[in-house]
Amino acid sequence: MDLKNIISKFKELFGLDGAVYTSPGRINLIGEHTDYNGGFVLPGAIDKAMVVIVKPNGTNKVRAFALDIKDESNSSEFGLEEENKPAEGWAKFIFGVAREMIKRGKTIPGFDIAVSGDVPLGAGMSSSAALESAVGFALNDQYKLGFTRQELALIGQATEHNYVGVKCGIMDQFASCLGKEGSLIRLDCRSLEYDYVPFNPKNYYLVLIDTCVPHNLAVGGEYNKRRESCERVVAAIAKDHPEVKLLRDATIDQLKAVKEQVSAEDYIRAEFVIEEIQRLLDTCEALKKDDYETVGQKMYETHEGLSKKYTVSCPELDFLNDYAKEFGVTGSRVMGGGFGGCTINLVKKDEVDKFIAKATDAYEKKFSIKPKVYHVVIGDGARKLE
Ligand code: GLA
Repeated sequence: MDLKNIISKFKELFGLDGAVYTSPGRINLIGEHTDYNGGFVLPGAIDKAMVVIVKPNGTNKVRAFALDIKDESNSSEFGLEEENKPAEGWAKFIFGVAREMIKRGKTIPGFDIAVSGDVPLGAGMSSSAALESAVGFALNDQYKLGFTRQELALIGQATEHNYVGVKCGIMDQFASCLGKEGSLIRLDCRSLEYDYVPFNPKNYYLVLIDTCVPHNLAVGGEYNKRRESCERVVAAIAKDHPEVKLLRDATIDQLKAVKEQVSAEDYIRAEFVIEEIQRLLDTCEALKKDDYETVGQKMYETHEGLSKKYTVSCPELDFLNDYAKEFGVTGSRVMGGGFGGCTINLVKKDEVDKFIAKATDAYEKKFSIKPKVYHVVIGDGARKLE
């Protein structure tokens, strides 16, 4: 990312220097679609991030500019009342974060803001959470609002729910706000308690292969439909077990007992979630013992579940997963919400180059799309850049 260019562009647009903030995208080793079910996740912030430059402008309006968009939808001006929601998709994130802060009793005067970044869009690395977190962190710092990082993550999540339309869990915003260099975050999404799990395997790299099939979780509402399935199953189980508030609280036996009361589709989705929560716990145990073969095995199981039970994969992702398995890669799976984006691969260091060359070649031959490859570096969460 060309930070100098971003800074000089801000000055050119708004005539003054602004303060620079950044917040990263994320990976997730395992634990998918478990967050909104109160389960565990194991994400880490990455070295790809969104950057915002901000300066209060003394008015009650926001003037916003998206430096990476090349047409006239790259600028937006809006007030901060509920009815002022901007038309531009990217500006809704800025508006939403400010609105969520106002709803929490804060005053947000007008500001100028420029946005840029190198988190690939639609690749499953949470560019939107990165933007929400960068904006949240920036406004919190500029206006001395006193939100904790955890509260900023919740503000980002509420922005998705109320201004973007995706009823997401907390994983992405949490990783973006609380990420730590060299560590994954083992997050209990029910209590929001978390531990940092150092992740620096001696003999393996994490490699992302981007199918370049963009995913957009809002389109068609497929993500929200999964969440509704889980909620229906919880409601069925809770009739006999009122202590079950989320699928995290449910056992496979409790699920089996309501098999006749829920649709086959809801049943199999809930089964995936309950299994996935356990898989994450097993993976954490394996990590403690540096048992990466088991970690990898669990990743393949997650892919199988996401593809066959939760049905959030696509032919391109399945192809890359099959290819990794045939090649003998230690672990591989679709990462994030699904429906496109990346596979995350745990690859032995001495096999990385060969695997990437062969997998990308095979993928391109099959789909006539050149996939992108990203090497994962686990970095820090939201911060001000001096
Ligand atoms: C998206 C959502 C997250 C999480 C994942 C799936 O990234 O934003 O909250 O549900 O999908 O694990």
